[in-house]
Amino acid sequence: MTSNVVLRDTEAMSSTTAWFRSTISLDEIRKPALELLMHYTSLAPEAIVSHLITVRNNAYKSAPYPCVGIFLFLELQMSRHPLYPAILSQLSSTNGDYCLLDVGCGLGQDLRKLRYDGAQLQRIYAVELEQGLIDSGFDLFMDSNQSKHNFIAGDALQGDPSQWLKIFGIENGFNAMYVGNLFHLFDWSDQLLIARNLISLTQKREKPVIFGWQYAARKSGLVSLGPNKEAQIYGHNEESMKKFWKEVGELTGTKWSLQVGCEWSEDARLAKDINWGDAGGNGLMQFSVQRV
Ligand SMILES: C[S@@+](CC[C@H](N)C(=O)[O-])C[C@H]1O[C@@H](n2cnc3c(N)ncnc32)[C@H](O)[C@@H]1O
Repeated sequence: MTSNVVLRDTEAMSSTTAWFRSTISLDEIRKPALELLMHYTSLAPEAIVSHLITVRNNAYKSAPYPCVGIFLFLELQMSRHPLYPAILSQLSSTNGDYCLLDVGCGLGQDLRKLRYDGAQLQRIYAVELEQGLIDSGFDLFMDSNQSKHNFIAGDALQGDPSQWLKIFGIENGFNAMYVGNLFHLFDWSDQLLIARNLISLTQKREKPVIFGWQYAARKSGLVSLGPNKEAQIYGHNEESMKKFWKEVGELTGTKWSLQVGCEWSEDARLAKDINWGDAGGNGLMQFSVQRV
C-alpha cells in the first residue's frame, strides 16, 4: 500500500485483531443491504450469510481493512449521504452525461446500490487500489458479466489519473467523485495529493462535487487504532476540514465550498465488540465540497 498511514491488519484474520468479526447474523444485515444482495445474487436470505462470509474472508486476506473486517461495506454509506438523492437523480437521467467516480470503492457495493436505485451504467465508475477487492465484489454480487468495465485497479495517490478517463472512455471527466473512508488512510500531505489528483479529473465540469465519509476526531490528526495501537488513522473535525480544503484550493488554483456533518456515535452498530483503542469516542463525518 502506498499510504504512510498504516491501517492494515498484519495478522490477517487473527482472532486478536481489533477489526475482524468472524461472522454476522442475518438480522444484523440492514434491509437495504440484504435487498441488494438478494437482487444481485438471486440467493435466498438463508443462503446469503454463508455466501457473504466466504467472500468476505477471501477479500480480507488481500485487503484487511476494518471496512471489510467488520462488514462495514454492508452499511451502503453512499446512499446515506445527504447528497445521494440529488446525485442519483442526475445519474438516472437519460439526458446529459453526468458521471460519477467512486474512488477507493472497496467491494464496489455503492456502485451496485446506485445501479439498483436507477443510475445509468455508463455514468458510474470506480477505481480501487486492490484488484483482489474488485474481484471479491464480482464474487459477492455475482455480476462480472454486467459491470466489469466499470471497475479498474488504480492508485489515487500516484501516477497520472487522466489515464482512467481513457480506460473508461470518458472525455469530459467527472461531475461527482465519491470518496468513502479513503482520505483517513493518509496523512495530511498525501491527502492533499489525492485531492489534487481527483480535482484534475473534474476540470472540464461545471461545479463538480466531491463527497464522502471520513473518520471524525474531536481533536484532528493521527489517532492510534486497535488495542495495541497497531495502526493509525487520520481524524478530521470541521476546523481541519476547512483548513484542508482551503489548502487544496491554493494548491490547485480552485475554490471549494464545504459542508460537513459529524456523527459522534462511533457508528457503533457493527463495531460494538471492537476494541478501537485510542480511537474510541470519535465518530464519522459526512462531507461534501463543491467548486465555486
Ligand atoms: C476503508 S476502505 C473503504 C472502501 C469503500 N469506499 C467503503 O466505504 O466501504 C478504503 C479503500 O481504499 C482503497 N485504497 C487505499 N489506498 C488507495 C489508493 N491509493 N488508491 C485507490 N484506492 C485506495 C483500499 O484498498 C480500500 O478498499
